[in-house]
Amino acid sequence: MNIPGGIRVKLALALLAIVGGALLTAYAIVVPSLERRLVAAKLDQQERDANALAVLYATQEAQNTLRLDDFVDGADFVSNSRVVIFAVDGPPKSQVIRSLADSLAVGGAEIERDPTAIAAAREVRTVRARVRHDGREYAEVAVPLLTAGNVMLLSSSISDQLATVDLVKRRLLFATAAALLIALVLGFAVAAIHANRLGRLQRAADRIAEGAFDEPVIDNGADEVGQLAGSFDRMRIQLAQLDRARKEFVANASHELRTPLFSLAGFLELLADEDLDEKTRSEFLATTRAQVDRLTKLTTDLLDLSRMDVGRIRIEHEEVELAEVARVVAEELGALADASSHTIVVEADEQAWAFADEERVQQIARAMAGNALVHTPAGTVVRLRAERRGARVALVVEDNGPGIPPEHLGRVFQRFYRVEGGLASGSGLGLAIARELAGRMGGTVTVASRPGATAFTLELPAEDESPRPPTPIPG
Ligand SMILES: Nc1ncnc2c1ncn2[C@@H]1O[C@H](COP(=O)(O)OP(=O)(O)OP(=O)(O)O)[C@@H](O)[C@H]1O
Ligand SMILES: [Mg+2]
Repeated sequence: MNIPGGIRVKLALALLAIVGGALLTAYAIVVPSLERRLVAAKLDQQERDANALAVLYATQEAQNTLRLDDFVDGADFVSNSRVVIFAVDGPPKSQVIRSLADSLAVGGAEIERDPTAIAAAREVRTVRARVRHDGREYAEVAVPLLTAGNVMLLSSSISDQLATVDLVKRRLLFATAAALLIALVLGFAVAAIHANRLGRLQRAADRIAEGAFDEPVIDNGADEVGQLAGSFDRMRIQLAQLDRARKEFVANASHELRTPLFSLAGFLELLADEDLDEKTRSEFLATTRAQVDRLTKLTTDLLDLSRMDVGRIRIEHEEVELAEVARVVAEELGALADASSHTIVVEADEQAWAFADEERVQQIARAMAGNALVHTPAGTVVRLRAERRGARVALVVEDNGPGIPPEHLGRVFQRFYRVEGGLASGSGLGLAIARELAGRMGGTVTVASRPGATAFTLELPAEDESPRPPTPIPG
């Protein structure tokens, strides 16, 4: 049901309905039963009196001391009821009654129509009833007086009992009204507090949706709303980080792209100079080609990253021999190693078969080994090792270069992160891509470094856990 007025009105109405319902139920149960019990108690009392008086009547009649007027007066006094003695005339089942004596001394046609007394006369049994005469209610008991065949009626107003019931009714109604009022005020107040808190949350969500992440979402409550505010705040912090990372990424990427592009533009202009001698021209061409290579690598890296970010990178799962990967990469980088006076050594454990994507494993190995060649001084030895580690296999690239200072170690896997004052300039994407790719294959890339010993380790799930026969080394 859609009730206008928000949570305030809804909660107040709900409380009102609960309190109102509870009190009405109590009213419906208590009032009628109280009335029934009070009237029944009165009738019980009258019946006991009537039975005792019937015995007295029979005794006096037997002793011939019965004087009806005196009897009804005395009976009225002890039973506190109007007492009437009737004679019963007429054929069975349609008898009429005639008042012989009435403690109120009224008698006559009115009381001779009394249904209780007539029923007792016709059915010859004790009859008890609640009747109404002239707008007033009475409890009545009529008993047949067996010896004389007469009927005695005890009739007494139950206005006291009904007044008690009325009092209870009034009190209950008053209590209901008071409780409803309190429920309304309380419901409204409690709902207002919650509505305010929800309103604050809503405004915070709107702010976050508009991209304003600075203002924290605060709610000190320990209840669900407080927990929701906590979740909102965590979401805000996460979104702020993502937003910052996105902006940094765009800024870094454009910066990285601009540098080689500027240099390319400069060299192209110089190359356009017709007076350039052949030697300088070919030097410029070589530099231009190097810049184009750098741009190509950078755009490929950026494409890889963005594909991984949107989850659109295809990863094969096949048997990959890590020793073979180590050899291929070592060979690929052989020329570079020679040029920079580095030594590459491959130590291959033929049991190291991974379950991964061969191309991607090579890409990771290339990034790790390439780093060991370009970020270390000449003369450094780079060792590529494939090994089996229980249910996992590892490809380790070790070098005996100066290492990565501990304060940078935790950050080298971040996108665009480079150690300041490093030997070579890269874009700082190689290790970030390596780690993310490894993650997609169920593996990890980790680093341990101290001066003279730096090791990057790619660990992958083993193809299976049973050892394989060694494959012959080609060549
Ligand atoms: N073996 C190593 N020895 C010393 N420093 C290293 C080594 N490997 C990586 N680093 C440091 O970690 C940084 C990040 O490496 P990463 O491969 O991510 O980026 P990059 O090599 O600078 O650029 P890219 O690989 O994208 O061309 C490097 O800039 C370098 O400072
Ligand atoms: Mg690198």
